[in-house]
Amino acid sequence: MPKIAKKGIDMPASPIRKLTPYADKAKKDGKTVFHLNIGQPDIPTPEIMLDAVKHIDFKVWAYTPSEGTASYREKLSTYYNKLGYGVDASQIMVTNGGSEAITIAFLACLNPGDEIIIPEPFYANYNGFACMADVTIRPILSTIENGFALPSIAEFEKLIDSKTKAIAICSPNNPTGYLYSKEEMESLKALCLKHDLYLFSDEAYREFCYDGNEFVSPMHLDGIEEHVVVFDTVSKRYSACGARLGCLITKNKEVLQTSLKFAQARLSAPSVAQIAGEAAIDTPQSYFDTVLEEYTIRRNILVEGLNAIPGVFCSTPGGAFYVVAKLPIDDADRFCQWMLESFSKDEKTVMMAPATGFYSTPGAGKNEVRLAYVLNQEDLRQALDCLADGLAQYPGKTV
Ligand SMILES: Cc1ncc(COP(=O)(O)O)c(C=O)c1O
Repeated sequence: MPKIAKKGIDMPASPIRKLTPYADKAKKDGKTVFHLNIGQPDIPTPEIMLDAVKHIDFKVWAYTPSEGTASYREKLSTYYNKLGYGVDASQIMVTNGGSEAITIAFLACLNPGDEIIIPEPFYANYNGFACMADVTIRPILSTIENGFALPSIAEFEKLIDSKTKAIAICSPNNPTGYLYSKEEMESLKALCLKHDLYLFSDEAYREFCYDGNEFVSPMHLDGIEEHVVVFDTVSKRYSACGARLGCLITKNKEVLQTSLKFAQARLSAPSVAQIAGEAAIDTPQSYFDTVLEEYTIRRNILVEGLNAIPGVFCSTPGGAFYVVAKLPIDDADRFCQWMLESFSKDEKTVMMAPATGFYSTPGAGKNEVRLAYVLNQEDLRQALDCLADGLAQYPGKTV
C-alpha cells in the first residue's frame, strides 16, 4: 500500500473536535450535551445578510476574481476605513475564511524552517497552518494569573534568533479572551521594527470587546505598515461561520502580490458568500449593540459562576467569547472525557475543550479548560451546575 506523507502524519488533529465521538455517544445514550467546547455562536446571522442570499439571481454560478469581487472589496474598504485602517480595496484580498488568509500569509511570507513566535495558549489551528507551511511555532507562555496579558518584551527577545521571521497575535484572543492594550501593541511594534519581523494580527473577534475597552489593531500604528498582515473573517462578526469568507489585509505590496499567486491557484473565494458579505457591511449598529450586550451578560454569568465553584479560577476576559479556567483536577483531557462518558446530572452534561490543545509547551494547561459562552443564559446556568457537580464527583479532583 502506498505510504502517507510525513507532513500528513505530522499534521495535528483538531483538539477542539477530538472529544466529539464521546459527545455523540452521550447524546445517543439520551443525554443533553451543553456545547461549551466550540466557538459556534447561536446568535442569528443579520437578516440583511440572509436576505441577500435568498434574493440571489444569476444565470451562471461563476468563478469570481481570485482577489475577490471588486464590489465586495470596495465595500470592505469602507468598513475598515471607518475603523481607521486607511486602506483601499487593492490592499484587501478575499479568502475562504480567515483560515485561508492565515495559510496563505504563512506560505507567502515564511520559508520552511522559519520560526514564528506566538503567545500561548493560542488558537489551536495555528499548529495545523504552521505544519502546512513547514514553519516552527515558538510559543511564549502567558499565564492565567495575570489574565494572559502579553508576556514581557524581554521574554520575546530571548526567543528571537536568525530563524525568527514573524510574531503572530490574536486580539481579542481565542482562547483566553485577552484584549491587548495600546501600550502592548506599541511594544510589539517596536520589537518587530527592531528585528525586522512580520506582525500577523488575527482579528476574528474585533467586534467583541467588553466594558467599553478600545480595540487596537497594528493597522492603527504608524511606521509599521510594511510589516503588518491582518487576518479577518465574517464567521464571528456576523455569526456566519458557514459562509467561509475572510480576507487578508496588508499595505505591503510584495506580500499582497505573492499572496495573490496562492489565491490564483485556488481560483476564487465563494461567490455567494461574497454577495452575502457585501450586504452584511450594512448591518445596522443596533445588531452589534444587542449582540455585545448579550455576550457581556453571558460572560458575567460564566465568570461569576466559575469562580463560585470551589477550587476554580478564571479571570474576566476583555473580549471574544471564550474563557480559560483553571480547575481542581489532575488532567483536563481525562476530566473532559469523563464528563461525557461517566457523568450526568438529570441526563445532562457539558462538553469543554481541554486547554492542553492550545499550548505547545508540553504539560502546560493540564488543569485548564477553554469554555465558549456561545449558549443562551439559561443553558449556561445549567452547564455551570453540571460542571460544579461533575467537579465534586470526579475521581481525579485535587482539592
Ligand atoms: C482566532 C481565530 N482565527 C481564525 C479562525 C478561523 O475562522 P474562519 O471560520 O474564518 O476560517 C478562528 C475560528 O474559530 C479563530 O478563532
